[in-house]
Amino acid sequence: MMQIFHFEELPSTQDKVFELFQSKTQAPFVVVADRQTKGRGRLGREWISETGRSLTLSYGCILPTKNLEALSLIVGLGVRDRLHDADVKLKWPNDLMIEEKKVGGILVESRSQGDQAQVAIGVGLNLLSLQSAPYFGINQKVAAEEVAGAIESRLNAFINGGFGPFQREYESVLWNKGQTVTLKIDDEKKEVRILGVSDRGWLKTEHNGELFLSDQGEILVGS
Ligand code: BTN
Repeated sequence: MMQIFHFEELPSTQDKVFELFQSKTQAPFVVVADRQTKGRGRLGREWISETGRSLTLSYGCILPTKNLEALSLIVGLGVRDRLHDADVKLKWPNDLMIEEKKVGGILVESRSQGDQAQVAIGVGLNLLSLQSAPYFGINQKVAAEEVAGAIESRLNAFINGGFGPFQREYESVLWNKGQTVTLKIDDEKKEVRILGVSDRGWLKTEHNGELFLSDQGEILVGS
């Protein structure tokens, strides 16, 4: 049975995961906080959440280092499994969206030791729209246990079979599939049409008949 550590307040559930790994806590485990004072997002961004309106949790697990690619895509599918709103789409590589509004995000951080890695999978979900920031919510109360259970079952399948078996399913919920968007890689921006993902979870796009596969980058919203 997976252990759940619940805290009223933490700087970040991600840091707590690595502290627990240091003190030899048996993985997998989950860290949940009612409030984060220093929540972080991808690319060094701040993650804003509010008590009672947000779900902030991190799932700590040990994974083969080679399995880390595409992990955030799999976690996105897992989180989505627990949401009632079928309109929630996954914006590659790891945002949960309702149309143009981001309602959740996933942050994967890892420390690898040879072929094994300690992994902290952070999930931030706006259950209700926030009051202090213009962030939209899914209008559903989801328990941390439910989300953690869904991540766990998706992970098991992923560890056994890789991303390939999830490719079509991921594409069926891929945000803005078929649309032309701006893809930003490093400091370069280019207009591309989203085609799907590869069997490794790389983003597949097209521009003037030329095909691109990207393992990094960000799709800009509202562009
Ligand atoms: C993103 O969209 O950039 C990812 C956001 C991830 C936020 C979650 S909230 C729980 C966990 N603890 C953190 O400090 N960040 C992640």
